[in-house]
Amino acid sequence: SIGHFTFDPGFMATGSCESSITFIDGEKGVLLHRGYSIEELARDADYLEVCYMLLHGEAPDAATYAEFKSTITRHTMVHETMTNFFHGFRPDAHPMAMLCGTVGAMSSFYHDDLDVSDPEKRLRSAYRLVAKMPTLVAMAYKHNIGQPFVYPRNDLSYAENFLNMMFSVPAEEYKISPAVARAVDRIFTLHADHEQNASTSTVRLAGSSGANPYACIAAGVASLWGPAHGGANEACLNMLQKIGTVDRIPEFIAKAKDKNDPFRLMGFGHRVYKNYDPRATVMRESCHEVLAELEVKDPLLQVAMELEKIALEDEYFASKKLFPNVDFYSGIILKAIGIPTNMFTCIFALARTVGWISHWHEMLGQDGQKIGRPRQLYTGEAQRPFTPIKK
Ligand code: SDX
Repeated sequence: SIGHFTFDPGFMATGSCESSITFIDGEKGVLLHRGYSIEELARDADYLEVCYMLLHGEAPDAATYAEFKSTITRHTMVHETMTNFFHGFRPDAHPMAMLCGTVGAMSSFYHDDLDVSDPEKRLRSAYRLVAKMPTLVAMAYKHNIGQPFVYPRNDLSYAENFLNMMFSVPAEEYKISPAVARAVDRIFTLHADHEQNASTSTVRLAGSSGANPYACIAAGVASLWGPAHGGANEACLNMLQKIGTVDRIPEFIAKAKDKNDPFRLMGFGHRVYKNYDPRATVMRESCHEVLAELEVKDPLLQVAMELEKIALEDEYFASKKLFPNVDFYSGIILKAIGIPTNMFTCIFALARTVGWISHWHEMLGQDGQKIGRPRQLYTGEAQRPFTPIKK
């Protein structure tokens, strides 16, 4: 039984799943991808190595990594007519709206990927998605700011290429800081996968009907957009800006404790972690490195650090086991790099695509895979007679 409910085993059969991709221990704050700890991966691996192991089960050796990196690099362009979709959006369209629309539209370009029963075709669509998400995200940003789209470049790393497509302009080359590229690559790694979270479960449920990978990932993007999930990084920065100064923190802590006040501390709490989110620990170190490297004295970081300190010393939050989560620090790093808050969830979606598509690929390869069909506890009326009205 879970909480107030007791489910019959049949129900759990439709509501749960088996996976060998990611392990989380919420009580101990442990996160493993294919058995490797997130701390070691964030320190010693790059995002494409993590992508390979999520998709294939093992960390790649040097030759396999080089081949995988070359394949991804050569799939980063999108079909040129994709630009028409972006030109059809209002300039002030939310980037997640544009991402949701264009990822789904990919179904109309790659007809050879729509047969999900073939594992090779599934992997090909997975590679296409990992390769093209940075391009689509950068195009959404360029559409918002009225600048020309920047084509991907094969001489750059995955993170460098993304930064270049975001910030390069025809009139001036974008100078890529290795520290910033490393921080962005690490943010991608820290967001790559997280077991059966809301958006991954959405992708699995959509995929269980046999829907094509692009439609399933578009469903994942839609689910991630919510402020309780992937939208939390944008909401967290907006909250820090609303708090504004350190002396206003107690006012917001009181609001977060007030049962009648819907306000929640964005970037705090988790459905599973009842200990520190291990990703937040790594993200915090990255945050300080990037701000020192860029010599950014962001007053919001002062507010964030003081908020973290007060919240962690407050017995209410300790009693509710509310700790900073992965979204608490990522927003500050992205803001320091010059990425606007309305782009944060797109960055999360970009990074999480490999996790979504790895679960989708794993599920479709499992024996006896059936369409998902969660049941319910009915709380409506018992059967009663219907009285037709005289029309
Ligand atoms: C992500 O699932 C994943 O893995 C998601 C994710 C991933 O990588 O995919 O990790 C990414 O979504 C991280 C979470 C980002 N969201 C936020 O930062 C938004 C703010 N946090 C919350 O809305 C909230 O913490 C949730 C939604 C994350 C979890 O909410 P729950 O399930 O209600 O949390 P809980 O059951 O542990 O709450 C315990 C108590 C509750 O109070 P009581 O009902 O017991 O009185 O703490 C309260 C909650 O009301 N609470 C908060 C709070 N989060 C929970 N109170 C104030 N501020 C908060 N942030």
